[in-house]
Amino acid sequence: MNQTIAREDIESLLRWYVDQGIDEAIGEEAIDRFAAPPPQAAPLPVQPPAPAAPTPIRPLPAAPTPLRGPVPIESPQLVEDARALAQRCNSVEELEAAVRAFEGCALKRTAKNTVFADGVVGSPVMIVGEAPGADEDRLGKPFVGVSGQLMDRMFDAIGMSRERDLYITNILFWRPPGNRTPTLAEQAVCMAFTRRHIELAKPKVLVLAGGTAAKSVLDTTEGIMRLRGKWTNLALDDGSTVPTLPTFHPAYLLRTPASKRQSWSDLLSLDKKLRELGIR
Ligand code: URA
Repeated sequence: MNQTIAREDIESLLRWYVDQGIDEAIGEEAIDRFAAPPPQAAPLPVQPPAPAAPTPIRPLPAAPTPLRGPVPIESPQLVEDARALAQRCNSVEELEAAVRAFEGCALKRTAKNTVFADGVVGSPVMIVGEAPGADEDRLGKPFVGVSGQLMDRMFDAIGMSRERDLYITNILFWRPPGNRTPTLAEQAVCMAFTRRHIELAKPKVLVLAGGTAAKSVLDTTEGIMRLRGKWTNLALDDGSTVPTLPTFHPAYLLRTPASKRQSWSDLLSLDKKLRELGIR
């Protein structure tokens, strides 16, 4: 079959790929999957399959618990290593160096850059998002793409900026391929550093942008629709606590502009909290 494909069709296919997060070629040459040999049929089993075991009667599921329970970690040792490394760091600079040198997260292999943080260390407000996207991966800074620009405008509306009073990071330091949601194992490894990051940056208030960051930092199964706008105190391993406000992710607001009303109310709540704490 020798079909000519119209240029507009190719362009619209490429646009669709980019919208799906497929924005990089992984090889120099495109693979013609139609030309590949047909897959080999699996050999038939010699023995007939064993009869299925009777399905055990399962007890009724327990009431939902807010804690996420044991994380399916490929190597729990990696999390322990990350924790031990993070604990040995006594400043944000040391932690950044440790994260950059860390080889225990497979995402690092596909990412272009380690995206550690942006803004002013020691700011009263620390924002924790999900993971770098393509722009962040390219530039090595969190929240610099379209959703980051929206976040900047939102904070600007309450008189705050990353140049002056915000410190910004993500729960993941490397971009997941195609912007997929990070696995629990990837989150667990990076969370060892992120918790220490919060301890060392000592924000007066923590803002969690989006459901993935909120669930991961608060170690809960509760969704962002229930969590957003509600203050909670995050207990850290050094015994300190920090008032924490989950809110919608700016990328969600770009897709669902009607939710900006709730985000505005969260920003006003943040402003009020900062005033109560005597910071503004
Ligand atoms: N989304 C995030 O959660 N973090 C970024 O840095 C960029 C987009």
